[in-house]
Amino acid sequence: MSVATRFAEVYGHDPAGVWAAPGRVNLIGEHTDYNDGFVLPLALDRRTRVAAELARGATTVRSSREAEPVTFAAETVAPGEVTGWAAYVAGVVWAFRQAGLPVADLDLFVQGDVPVGAGLSSSASLECAVAVALCELTGTGLDLTEIAHLARRAENEFVGAPTGGMDQMAAMHGVADRLVFLDTRDDHVELIPFALATHGLRLLVIDTRAPHQLVDGQYGARRADCAKAAELLGVPALRDATVAAVESLTDERLRRRARHVVTEDERVLEVVGRLRAGKDPRAIGPLLSASHTSMREDFEITVPHVDVAAAVAEEAGAHGARMTGGGFGGCVIALVDAEAGDGVTGAVTAAYAERGWEPPVVFDAVAADGAGRA
Ligand code: GLA
Repeated sequence: MSVATRFAEVYGHDPAGVWAAPGRVNLIGEHTDYNDGFVLPLALDRRTRVAAELARGATTVRSSREAEPVTFAAETVAPGEVTGWAAYVAGVVWAFRQAGLPVADLDLFVQGDVPVGAGLSSSASLECAVAVALCELTGTGLDLTEIAHLARRAENEFVGAPTGGMDQMAAMHGVADRLVFLDTRDDHVELIPFALATHGLRLLVIDTRAPHQLVDGQYGARRADCAKAAELLGVPALRDATVAAVESLTDERLRRRARHVVTEDERVLEVVGRLRAGKDPRAIGPLLSASHTSMREDFEITVPHVDVAAAVAEEAGAHGARMTGGGFGGCVIALVDAEAGDGVTGAVTAAYAERGWEPPVVFDAVAADGAGRA
């Protein structure tokens, strides 16, 4: 049933419209976005949809995943007042208000097909879908980056997840068959052609279904390590450090953390260079795999489920494979020849079965358009 139909069922009238925003996978550039570095995500063809209409007195949020509605007042809602999934909605309203922008109470119904808790930025997709709905219903004209910034503020300051800005920028700037090359220092965006099918390729997303959670301490601990390393190196952010300088750090843990970030930035630029030059995308495979090794050994954010998926995908013929997203679970991406995709999926599934693990869920990453009216 469509989200507009669900809305009409529960609210007794049609919505003013339906707005949607995509989840994302990051092709490469992990944990670089809060170091002023480079990232290269794509917006997925999986979206969170929000049917919305102006309301009186209170905002009501309902979701196809939740039995109970959540209510709050747009003019007064504050951090801590709304928790759980609806905090992403309330946080956006709050962020608009904090920025001095008009807000309004809304009736909302949320439905989508971005897997939740899989590291595919379902939260950013919800924030961005609500933000574009709010803009249109209040007549507020903002550009894509301004909306992404408000959505990120909701995540950081209302929900309390200390993330960088990649996910919301990908959800807003995504374009079909394009990668979003983002310089997180100034939020400059360049769209890079990425039409895999024309090269006989597929990008598999292997959802390992290992539980993943960003609000816990590990993500924040990595951020703190990176900030400390930048301070010791005397640079504004690790984006400004060289590999040689990083090797001079005496603290072994900080050296490894910083080495990941600095080499990851180099890999992103190398991938962009190869794709911009029109090279066969197979040429980026080794860089994807090197990114995974760096996350496993230097940044230490992988877990056995993702390491097994990446290694087995490569053994089964993938040109490259790496964990994507914040880490400690989530998804692995694998660049494969179109005809090899099913074999890779079968090999990873068999490896999981051997270990007594739940089977992974595998689908194709198809680069799609960013947020807007659905
Ligand atoms: C999460 C965060 C992003 C980014 C990635 C790691 O997805 O939300 O800002 O830091 O982790 O690259």
